[in-house]
Amino acid sequence: MTDDLFAAVNMAGDMSNLTDLEKKHLPVIDAPDKVSAGAEFEITIDVGRLLTHPSEPGHSIQWISLKRGNVTLASVHLTPSVKPIVTFKTTLSETTELRAVERCNLHGEWENRKKVLVE
Ligand SMILES: [Fe+2]
Repeated sequence: MTDDLFAAVNMAGDMSNLTDLEKKHLPVIDAPDKVSAGAEFEITIDVGRLLTHPSEPGHSIQWISLKRGNVTLASVHLTPSVKPIVTFKTTLSETTELRAVERCNLHGEWENRKKVLVE
């Protein structure tokens, strides 16, 4: 992570020793570890589960996206009036590393990943 939070997409430095900034911004991904090919499943992306992120006019999460590689599967724009948590339903045909990306208006974009095994 650089000092300029807007220079790149930020990721956690050490998952076992997160800073408060990382805890507030890292999207937490709830998804099964393993699914059947073509079977629908839910993915929840929760920003602020580890440490509550503000939702106020001057500081809030502006959007949350779900990606498969570089492909955006879904993207939701948020206002400070809603909590930054979204649930999507999808299917996969092969083992995939899902990416959750969010943007805070003051602290830039943050990403987390979760591999879902398809059998
Ligand atoms: Fe923030």
